[in-house]
Amino acid sequence: MSGVNEKKVAALEAVKYVKSGMKVGLGTGSTAFYMIQAIGEMVKNGLNIKAVATSVETEKLAKSLGIEIITLAEAKRLDITIDGADEVNEEFQLIKGGGGALLREKIVAHNTDLNIIIADSSKKVSRLGKFKLPIETIPFATQLIISELEAMNLEPIQRLNGDQVYRTDENNDIIDVNIWNCDEPLSDLEQRLKAIPGIVETGLFLTTTNVVIVAEGEKAVSRKR
Ligand code: 5RP
Repeated sequence: MSGVNEKKVAALEAVKYVKSGMKVGLGTGSTAFYMIQAIGEMVKNGLNIKAVATSVETEKLAKSLGIEIITLAEAKRLDITIDGADEVNEEFQLIKGGGGALLREKIVAHNTDLNIIIADSSKKVSRLGKFKLPIETIPFATQLIISELEAMNLEPIQRLNGDQVYRTDENNDIIDVNIWNCDEPLSDLEQRLKAIPGIVETGLFLTTTNVVIVAEGEKAVSRKR
């Protein structure tokens, strides 16, 4: 693939959708990083937007580039959100949360008119689940949820940060599970997981995505739903 930075290729294609006056959701991760940098450049050149960040990391980066950050409550509704993904299938369904920001990312996506996902070609899959599905849980319940997920044969593993428990921006835990062997429809699995008290959110994004931009080498291939 000749050293082409596909994350940047996808990001630069996505920022073409961003226009002055918009309220923009900013995703999290190494692909979103290039999108935020590009928007920072556009702001320096006169683009007038307000943005909502999906993580503390994104907020810091955006502010350092001169992008105005507002709260979701102030925004009320976002025109566009650009975010990365850990896996994306042909049906515009995603696994997200590798970077631990899935909760804010899902809230922001739910409150956005046009959700654009940007990805390098390694993220494109015919079936979701090679990447472990992140599930965000309330620490009070995490150990019992792990037992319940074990009983569901989902091979749960609590995420760590070195030798410490990993904590999200919302001070919650992440449990990564293996859904590869699940035969049930993903929407049923999502419902079953969300029905367990203490599970705050899962990294399954099944319905929110409107546009997927995947870079294939130097070419950005866009698909709209
Ligand atoms: C963070 C996410 C990221 O979008 C996802 O992990 C992809 O990250 P990257 O662009 O670094 O591969 O969901 O919670």
